[in-house]
Amino acid sequence: MISQPLLSVRNLTRSFPVQGGFFNRTVNHVRAVDSISFEIRRAKTLGLIGESGCGKTTVAKLILRLIEPDRGEVQFNGEQVLDFDAARLRAFRGRIQMIYQDPYSSLNPRMKVKDIIAEPLEIHYRHKYSAVEIQDRVADLIKRVGLHQNDLSKYPHMFSGGQRQRIGIARALILQPQLLLLDEPTSALDVSIQAKLLKLLLQLQRVMQLTFLFISHDMRVIQLMADEVAVMYLGRIVEYGSVEEVFTNPRHPYTQALLAAMPSPDPGKRLDRLVQLKGEIGDPSNIPSGCPFWPRCPQKIGDVCESAPPQLLPVNETTTVSCHLYHDPTSGEKSYLGASDDSLAQH
Ligand SMILES: Nc1ncnc2c1ncn2[C@@H]1O[C@H](COP(=O)(O)OP(=O)(O)O)[C@@H](O)[C@H]1O
Ligand SMILES: [Mg+2]
Repeated sequence: MISQPLLSVRNLTRSFPVQGGFFNRTVNHVRAVDSISFEIRRAKTLGLIGESGCGKTTVAKLILRLIEPDRGEVQFNGEQVLDFDAARLRAFRGRIQMIYQDPYSSLNPRMKVKDIIAEPLEIHYRHKYSAVEIQDRVADLIKRVGLHQNDLSKYPHMFSGGQRQRIGIARALILQPQLLLLDEPTSALDVSIQAKLLKLLLQLQRVMQLTFLFISHDMRVIQLMADEVAVMYLGRIVEYGSVEEVFTNPRHPYTQALLAAMPSPDPGKRLDRLVQLKGEIGDPSNIPSGCPFWPRCPQKIGDVCESAPPQLLPVNETTTVSCHLYHDPTSGEKSYLGASDDSLAQH
């Protein structure tokens, strides 16, 4: 039996007002996150990928309620996060931790590493643990993230970027969270340091049974880290499926373009139908009608792409795609091309 997902997000939506003009009035809205739905199973990783500005960080902040959604639902362990009162929200924020891209700005430069790592315990469970218990937990964590005991009395500026991110990870783990929201945690690091840190995260996940939402704009990182992947474009998910399926059989032209941009150790193996992406990600305050990707799409099939927004619908048991190439827009929501009746019946 499939167990209940740890995190389940339904139709999450948030726009931001854009000020402008003479009186600095609200002139428009940025649709940062538009009806996003996904699930993450325990001890698994969902990779969230897309170009800068497509809404990835906003998704993570909405889950934590650092910003409130306009609509939608977030369920954690089967509980409705949006119904939480202040006390339950606080407890929830102990069980989910976010790790940011820039490890330096998230560490207080005036605090010693041991105090930085222990701080969440002080904030969430003041007086619950003795000084010795806290010291033991900090000592255990610094070891787990591959740093040394004598690093505990140092300050953040004495470390490299990769080491600082390790300190940030130790700090995130001290409350023994179930879920980590990793927002491009290695994007600011050199490739070799990045690889070591990703390996550490995989190891910590296995040992501590952690669940990850792993945000990245790098397909290689997602391929290494994730079990499932959601591809985002201008606030929406355009393809969602297992990493194995999406990487070997990408369907959405945008996913294909992201894969084509991936440096490959064996260029001969590339699929030639994969195409380079032209132009920039569109303006989220002025999203094209129809399919948001049509102005850049090399496989546009006609007027339908410019006029009818495609639905995110299944193409087989594990993958959903939002593209008119796979779903016939004239014959109703549930009908789609290129799939058998069997797989239809499951959804
Ligand atoms: N607090 C905010 N106020 C106004 N616009 C915002 C705010 N946060 C994000 N945005 C806009 O929402 C869109 C998505 O941003 P973000 O979630 O940071 O994307 P990503 O993390 O994929 O780069 C961008 O156009 C961004 O400018
Ligand atoms: Mg971001």
